[in-house]
Amino acid sequence: MKIIVLNGSPKGEDSITIQYVAYIQKHFPQHDFRIIHVSQQIKKIEKDQKVFQEIIDEIRTADGVLWSFGLWVLCVPAQYMRFIELVSERGMEGAFENKYAAVITTSIHFYDHTAHNYMRAVCEDLRMKFVDAISLDIIDMMKEGRRREILIFAQGFIKAIREQAATSKLFNPLAFSDFAYQPTEPETRVDTKGKKILVLTDTNDSNSNLGKMIARFKQSYASEIEVINLKDVDIRGACLGCMQCGYDYNCVYQDGFASFYNQRVRTADMIVFAGTVKGRYLSSMWKTFYDRAYFWNHTPSLAGKQLGYIISGPLRQNSNLIQILEASSTARQYANHVDIITDECENSAEIDALLQSFARRLVVCAEKGYLKPLNFLAVGGHKVFRDDIWGRLRPLWQADYRYFKKHGLFDFPHKDYKIRMLTPILMLLTRIPAIRKKYYANVKSFPSGRLKKLIEHVD
Ligand SMILES: Cc1cc2nc3c(=O)[nH]c(=O)nc-3n(C[C@H](O)[C@H](O)[C@H](O)COP(=O)(O)O)c2cc1C
Repeated sequence: MKIIVLNGSPKGEDSITIQYVAYIQKHFPQHDFRIIHVSQQIKKIEKDQKVFQEIIDEIRTADGVLWSFGLWVLCVPAQYMRFIELVSERGMEGAFENKYAAVITTSIHFYDHTAHNYMRAVCEDLRMKFVDAISLDIIDMMKEGRRREILIFAQGFIKAIREQAATSKLFNPLAFSDFAYQPTEPETRVDTKGKKILVLTDTNDSNSNLGKMIARFKQSYASEIEVINLKDVDIRGACLGCMQCGYDYNCVYQDGFASFYNQRVRTADMIVFAGTVKGRYLSSMWKTFYDRAYFWNHTPSLAGKQLGYIISGPLRQNSNLIQILEASSTARQYANHVDIITDECENSAEIDALLQSFARRLVVCAEKGYLKPLNFLAVGGHKVFRDDIWGRLRPLWQADYRYFKKHGLFDFPHKDYKIRMLTPILMLLTRIPAIRKKYYANVKSFPSGRLKKLIEHVD
């Protein structure tokens, strides 16, 4: 059986994930696993049509495709996304049709689910037969139980191909609209109250819905606001995953990205990310932006800012992307996620009103320094980062460690001395049946009772 492994790690042979593939190879020598380093070779694949075509031909003659990648910023690395873009830009979806597919990833389990949803949706869009996905931790190879699970996963994939098994689908195809937005000038304009607002975009097409939405959003303000096109920024390539930035936030690239990010993005009070839905994400240009901003590691470089999105295209059909966008503001940045405005209502007057009110809300939030309490997307994510930054990855992420320590972000439960003292006492007391009975009888009304009393005393 011929299985093409599309290696999404820009690290090529040094990919952690590809070591897991090697482990599968070792246990299934009767099958031909051919690894193609698509992310590492992306520039060549983009420029040389022959190289791209050779990959497509390999896929065409394969029995199955194994998508292998390490998680990068809630999804796949930008180079991998570019490859997926190229497949549709060059009309090569047919090579993937009816091929069995599986996904293997490694990560620290921070938003591995959104990357897996993305990849599965891409497979289904390509009309592949999606069999299974496995999300492994970077050190799972060292665990006997996990090695066993990797082999069960691989066996299941091979068996499905051999038996031509039926496969399920979870994502509806996306329906794109040809609605053309026609904005009108605002009657009133919003005062920025001295706050700096920045719009980042990847379009220079002023006639596109996105271009018109950006223009209308700009007009909502009484003073000029800055719009930067990512295509005008000196970005020489996507993140290489070398992790050199872990020590002191210094990126190995000698291009203009870091100074652009530090001097123009980080200095804004409100940042609006404006993009168009492309496949199951925005463009790979946008993914490049997010991956390159990783030179700040897990330090929330936009903490406390007001962030929002203007999106053209079928976002409502893609709840996974909505989650990625929200988590990009909250879980990655501890910033305020204000809103996402799209053109999907297909009503120009309504879009005008949405953009106008979005412009106003951003300023109100910035003026008040409003930071909504974080929900599970950020609270859960924080605990993943906190544990690894404090623990096993501290030598690698030293800059993060310093930031987390300085800002009290190592908020482990064992640091809550009051709870630590009271809990064993309470547990001991509840061993006495009469106290236990009283304790559980009061469980329902006790917290609200305390809050009621508190309300009487606080301003
Ligand atoms: C730029 C970058 C972004 C990352 N983003 C995530 C992430 O969002 N979630 C996560 O769990 N791990 C993340 N990681 C950790 C990688 O997923 C992990 O190191 C993985 O094993 C890399 O796989 P590879 O060596 O095959 O590329 C990131 C690493 C890098 C370099």
